[in-house]
Amino acid sequence: MRIDVITIFPEYLEPLNVSLVGKARARGQLDVHLHDLRSWTTDVHRTVDDTPYGGGPGMVMKPEPWGAALDAVLAQGADALASGEGADAGAAAGAGEGSGDGGVPAGEVPTLVVPTPSGRPFTQELAQELAGRPWLAFAPARYEGIDRRVIEEAATRMPVVEASIGDYVLAGGEVAVLVMVEAIARLLPGVLGNAESHRDDSFAPGAMADLLEGPVYTKPAEWRGREVPEVLLSGHHGKIARWRREQAFARTLAHRPDLVDRWQLGAFDKKEREALSVLGLRWDGEAGRFRSVADAVEE
Ligand code: ADE
Repeated sequence: MRIDVITIFPEYLEPLNVSLVGKARARGQLDVHLHDLRSWTTDVHRTVDDTPYGGGPGMVMKPEPWGAALDAVLAQGADALASGEGADAGAAAGAGEGSGDGGVPAGEVPTLVVPTPSGRPFTQELAQELAGRPWLAFAPARYEGIDRRVIEEAATRMPVVEASIGDYVLAGGEVAVLVMVEAIARLLPGVLGNAESHRDDSFAPGAMADLLEGPVYTKPAEWRGREVPEVLLSGHHGKIARWRREQAFARTLAHRPDLVDRWQLGAFDKKEREALSVLGLRWDGEAGRFRSVADAVEE
């Protein structure tokens, strides 16, 4: 996968050299290019922002540097990919750098990802979807955001995804890029050591959809008087799987009751329904969702 990031703080993206993403880059599975937005300014002060039309606080990122940067990055990336440079985690794992089949047909455009608190939620599902694209370009903004026309014009040339990593406002989109790139990179074929390791993640499609992962333990079996739950030492895979699922139910109910509202009765077998009942959850057929007994009593 090729990734371009256009930012006024390329140094903010240094962590992309470290750990999982850094290793994926070193192995040639991820081809990351950082670009300084100010290289596309034309004045001596290298200005990237201006006051907002209509008034209001803060500054808005000017359209001209962004337009020129996107033009250049699109042209550079298309040339590089057409000539077979870069990485392709989509090819057989371990194909490595310069494998020749960059994965992007010549002339293809990136998907532009614009981190913004007013975007759609960046979920595991969106990470999965983006992990299937051969080329992503990120446009993290500072100040109050980027002049809207940049996004509109870009959308005439390439797919654009505006995404938020949570209901809070950061000083800029760079940290959101780090979050998104890490979430996407670990889903690429061959990037995680064990191909199964994201199967049990919270939110993973399938059995973990709408569920938070439960607690995990390692050696020693006893630490500061606290013992690892016995079932995990039993070697009984069926019981362990059931226990983990029940822990996930309890954790989800405690931390994310909004996810419980999405659960459907048919997703649970008889024993799981019993476990939900022990947690005080009853299926309300009329409402089409589980309700906690405590809530029912209150109403
Ligand atoms: N930029 C500022 N806040 C953000 C958020 N919550 N998500 C994505 N980008 C942002």
